[in-house]
Amino acid sequence: MSDGFVTVAKVGEIPEGGVKVVRLEDQGVAVFHVGGKYYALEDVCTHDGGPLAEGPLDGYLVECPRHGARFDIRTGAVRALPATAPVPTFAVRVTDEEVQVAYESYDETRPVPPAPTWPAAGDAPGARSARPDAPSGASPAREAASAPAAAPLPGGEAAGPSQQQFAIRAALETVMDPEIGLSVVDLGLIREIVVEPGRTQVRMLLTTPFCPYAPQLVEEVKLAARSVVDQPAEVEILPDPWSPDLMPDPGLLGFSF
Ligand code: FES
Repeated sequence: MSDGFVTVAKVGEIPEGGVKVVRLEDQGVAVFHVGGKYYALEDVCTHDGGPLAEGPLDGYLVECPRHGARFDIRTGAVRALPATAPVPTFAVRVTDEEVQVAYESYDETRPVPPAPTWPAAGDAPGARSARPDAPSGASPAREAASAPAAAPLPGGEAAGPSQQQFAIRAALETVMDPEIGLSVVDLGLIREIVVEPGRTQVRMLLTTPFCPYAPQLVEEVKLAARSVVDQPAEVEILPDPWSPDLMPDPGLLGFSF
């Protein structure tokens, strides 16, 4: 190992769409090869320890073989319940035909990645700065895994979102805008989730004022909310215009860097 990177495979060893599990100081790390790039994340589902590399891969989403939680291999972000916390990821580089992972010495006392959270009230939408409580010295990839991957907070409540709101948000990560191919959460369309006795309300934007997929999206958002909290769900379409600045990670659009 040098400069924090360790070789885990030769270029060509992991086929496109494939994965290799390596053990680094007793820690399983799954190295995926998708779209010509490599992605590494801990091979441990944050729900109950399932071996992620043994689950099916659908594009950039890997599904835990135990209970079906899905994670984005690029960021470690949760894309489907029952997991709610992201999987730590590691930076990967290709040097001299070797695939190398930035691996910090495994330390059982290392900080447990926090559950995904929404930015505090007043944070600029789309801000990507490191969390103020991020462990010093954490790798960018690890920070990315523990950073908020979410839409702005519900309602500006000082107490932060509830577990139900977290769970609904995670369910909404499976609702895809069919035109853009990103979830309504990744697009920053979900602006507020209110859970009250007898009613769930989701306030959201549309990417365009007369989006032809709006009725479909609204129905899928309602279904996702009801799948988490079994009570009527309403969707309010906000009149505000959408822009990529509202996305937690505008880079997902592929042209924002
Ligand atoms: S252990 Fe992965 S979904 Fe339960």
